Amino acid sequence: MSAFVAQSIQSKKMSDTKKTILITGGSGYVGTHTVLEFLQDGTYDVIVLDNSSNSIMEGLRRVEEMTGKKVPRYQVDLIDKQAIQGVFDKHKIFCVIHMASLKAVGESCKRPFFYYKANLFSAINLIEVMQENDVYNLIFSSSATVYGPPKVLPLVETLETGGCTNPYGRTKYFIENIFRDVCTVDPKWNMMFLRYFNPVGAHESGIIGEDPMGVPYNIMPFVAQVAVGRRQEVQVFGDDFDTPDGTGVRDYVHVVDLAKGHLAAMKKIEEKSDVQPKIYNLGTGTGISVLEIISAFEKYTGKKIPYKMAGRREGDVATMIADASKAGRELGWKTERGLKEMCETLWNFQSKNPYGYQGKEQQ
Ligand code: UD1
Repeated sequence: MSAFVAQSIQSKKMSDTKKTILITGGSGYVGTHTVLEFLQDGTYDVIVLDNSSNSIMEGLRRVEEMTGKKVPRYQVDLIDKQAIQGVFDKHKIFCVIHMASLKAVGESCKRPFFYYKANLFSAINLIEVMQENDVYNLIFSSSATVYGPPKVLPLVETLETGGCTNPYGRTKYFIENIFRDVCTVDPKWNMMFLRYFNPVGAHESGIIGEDPMGVPYNIMPFVAQVAVGRRQEVQVFGDDFDTPDGTGVRDYVHVVDLAKGHLAAMKKIEEKSDVQPKIYNLGTGTGISVLEIISAFEKYTGKKIPYKMAGRREGDVATMIADASKAGRELGWKTERGLKEMCETLWNFQSKNPYGYQGKEQQ
């Protein structure tokens, strides 16, 4: 018997007892925290598919070390349909959580075609392979960006989407619509879209966290890199927004709460609903400004964060705040970590891993 066949038999056996969840992009920031929650919960087997383009496998290796459990992982690009099929051949998959995505907003403006091709083709290939293998449960990592510039606040799931301000955002919007159309024509589909607000923080152990490639686009990892001495100062993008202190207000959600949101969603997806797809905002419902982030980080970590006011960043809006009550009502999900935990856990990870997982400045 070849090693491949033996491994396949063993993999199929693994899922005889527990349902197997495939997480695409499972070695990334939200992915590693989600895999950890799933392993600790123990209800499901987890396998990961990732092309490692924006994450190195170190995060997942650490998750395995923390839990003492092995996570079968496949270095597969979702552009390669045959390679995806190879993973479905090896495992009897119950549900896919589709997180894999290019997500650098700035880069997406410079290379829109690259973003559309990567994110849209991946989603289409994945859904085709799922269909061909009779797997119809899908949880999609969407984003608050699909709402576009808000006309009303807080943002509730029933609002119209669109008007996104960059190609990255549009890929999320397009994928939601592609998936929605697929649900309309085939009632076998059972889908959930989770619209993340702004994921921040790290696991309380300081072992896993966010490890952005190059200069961080997002505020929290940038602040943490200033604190650790990798960058000189934070540039505050705009102080003339229509907000209490003039700086941008966002709904920051702790990554561990977000990860637990996926577990809550997974348990709910087992009760198939007539309404397809089911959409949930994952946020806290609380808005925090850039200046509040900086002063909270200083307060909870004791680190001084030099900053200067800079002009607005193109495409930024004044305020994004979730109405996350539907996730509370229907998934039983509630956030448990506030700004204090967001700053403390981020700093715990950053100070223990000043240069991220690789231990040196990335090019
Ligand atoms: C952005 C994207 C969102 C994406 C998210 C996570 C848009 C409009 N937003 O969210 O789709 O899901 O990143 O990748 O496409 N800020 C500074 N200085 C900095 C960085 C940010 O002042 O160096 C400010 C921003 O102007 C904003 C706030 O901090 O007011 C949050 O910015 P950021 O962390 O980048 O998140 P979003 O722009 O909300």
